[in-house]
Amino acid sequence: MYDNWEELEKSIEECKKCKLCNNRNNIVFGEGNKEADLMFIGEGPGADEDKQGIPFVGKAGKLMNEAFKGLGIKREEVYIANIVKCRPPQNRVPEEAEAVACLNYLRNQVILVKPKIIVLLGSTALKNILGKEYGITAMRGKWIEKKGIKYMPTWHPAALLRDENKKIEFWKDLKEVANNLNKM
Ligand code: URA
Ligand code: SF4
Repeated sequence: MYDNWEELEKSIEECKKCKLCNNRNNIVFGEGNKEADLMFIGEGPGADEDKQGIPFVGKAGKLMNEAFKGLGIKREEVYIANIVKCRPPQNRVPEEAEAVACLNYLRNQVILVKPKIIVLLGSTALKNILGKEYGITAMRGKWIEKKGIKYMPTWHPAALLRDENKKIEFWKDLKEVANNLNKM
């Protein structure tokens, strides 16, 4: 673990700790306010993110940007990262070994940002951060507090594109997050 961003960012350059390194164009480290109260964790880069090296810039990112706008949150106020930093082929779910190999980077990011609230976007984020015993359908919309951080699991924005009901729930969960943040 590093106590500063410079060393952490340097440590990930040319990372080959898992096989996702073989097909990537860019490592998508994460971006945003390095002292954010609110952090978002997704699954892994898609094609657009891999091309640009920035998280949530494709279709799912557009939905996130709309959500930020609706909540009155500026994207640059929050910190955004993913479970794996390199794109899985065909956007498949990251394998256990890939997530395990990559997770220390994310843990270090969380330690440096020190967020009060972390929104877990979808099953991959939920299971890798809080434990395999958690399921997104049962847990979404429910606060889970661990080591001084409040976690809010919700749907991954990509899931909203296929299901109107999930859109309503996603919006409700993020409203709850924004309300809580305003009270802190
Ligand atoms: N989906 C994710 O989980 N993360 C991104 O950065 C983009 C799409
Ligand atoms: Fe390294 Fe993570 Fe990329 Fe795997 S996904 S090569 S662990 S940066």
